[in-house]
Amino acid sequence: MKDYETAAWRESMRLKINYNNMMKSTLILDGFTADEIKALPLEAAFKAMTAKRGQLKWRELPHNQEEIVAKIEETAAWVREEAEYFVVLGIGGSALGPIAVHQALRHLNYNELPREKRGGPRLYVLDNVDPERFAALLDVIDIQKTVFNVITKSGSTSETMSQLLIAVDLLKKAVGEDISRHLIATTDKEKGNLIKIAKQENLTTFIVPDGVGGRFSELCPVGLVAAAVCGIDIRELLAGAAYMDMLTQNENVLQNPACVLGALQKVAMDRGMNIHVMMPYADSLKYISDWYAQLWAESLGKKFGLDGKVVHAGQTPVKALGVTDQHSQVQLYTEGPFDKVVTILGVDKFRTVTPIPEGYPDIPDVHFLSGHTHNELIQAEQAATAYALTKSGHVNYTITLPEVNPFTVGELLYMFEVATAFAGELLGIDAFDQPGVEEGKKATYALLGKPGFDEKRAELAARPAEDPAYIL
Ligand code: PA5
Repeated sequence: MKDYETAAWRESMRLKINYNNMMKSTLILDGFTADEIKALPLEAAFKAMTAKRGQLKWRELPHNQEEIVAKIEETAAWVREEAEYFVVLGIGGSALGPIAVHQALRHLNYNELPREKRGGPRLYVLDNVDPERFAALLDVIDIQKTVFNVITKSGSTSETMSQLLIAVDLLKKAVGEDISRHLIATTDKEKGNLIKIAKQENLTTFIVPDGVGGRFSELCPVGLVAAAVCGIDIRELLAGAAYMDMLTQNENVLQNPACVLGALQKVAMDRGMNIHVMMPYADSLKYISDWYAQLWAESLGKKFGLDGKVVHAGQTPVKALGVTDQHSQVQLYTEGPFDKVVTILGVDKFRTVTPIPEGYPDIPDVHFLSGHTHNELIQAEQAATAYALTKSGHVNYTITLPEVNPFTVGELLYMFEVATAFAGELLGIDAFDQPGVEEGKKATYALLGKPGFDEKRAELAARPAEDPAYIL
């Protein structure tokens, strides 16, 4: 029996949210009041979100993937056996989740470990089309020992499809026409071009289910394939998400972790705090901030409300890392404008203890560190930052993971997804579309001559000419 199958263990792994430092009682100066939070239409927003559950298919991912998980594990087994390199081709929601989960749950220097310690292939995620990026990859991989996983829900994103064209060309030159042991496709079941290519090349194919948008897709094959290939227990990841699903169904919204987070941010936005800093105090959680930035920004940054009125909603996510950014951005956070909420992500029990050895007893200002551990130091620094922020009247709250493991990471991802959906309801916007991103995609297609984009090409050509006076 796995740990996560027992109720007591699950409860011991429950994330803790402490938002005292958002509230008037602690913050003294200008904290939020309980009445201010309760004045939001919390119940109505919760009901609206719950009523949409049937469309929000990402909410079912912790529960309905038994067969898919078995297929992923089967695929991961042969990839782990055959491949030295596993390369994810994708961007946005198709890349940020795999990066975040890998960083959280594998060794921090995973790729540098010897094969026997890694257990699986090295992982690379190509989430950009910087011309130097693919070339740099080719300097460190051997194509014949590489399996690519091309991920695009739409099956048409220029960045990903261009990467695919390069990978297929390289593979055919290196291994011949049959590339089916070197390329895995993850895409929509019928929309877009990747599914056609997958059939043509006879590829192992995973489907991004309907109703699961890019930034809500980490817990489907988009994220699970890379995770399983790198040896992460994806069943435990999903169990953590399922546990959080149970917690986020609590109708008592002030006891519902996702609703509390959404409500706090809504009060903050109403008060003009348009910046949301995500600051993990753990290197393993560093890229959770990148994943979260996309989720929060792309979901909530909207021009129109559900009623069609112009609202220009949203809150700008900022990525920070404790302790590192205590020596840079924290100066701004403690003494700068009152336009931010700082979310601290803490860890109770790290996977390693690093003792600070005895040394220099004749220099007390150094020696005081001896006998402590890096665990104590990072936690003291985290507490110190929360204190400094609070003392200066800057709102902040802390989410604590008892440990970083697949279960707690599953909880965290799922909680943030539901919090985002809930904040979307409170803001009265559609959190699941991305017309601003689509506009950029269409303009790229037009600029590069994709068939069917003549009108967009003409629109771009008709834009006002640039004034040379403003170009130095
Ligand atoms: O969340 C989203 O929908 C986007 O950020 C997409 O993930 C991103 O644009 C990539 O799209 P696709 O997976 O269709 O290639």
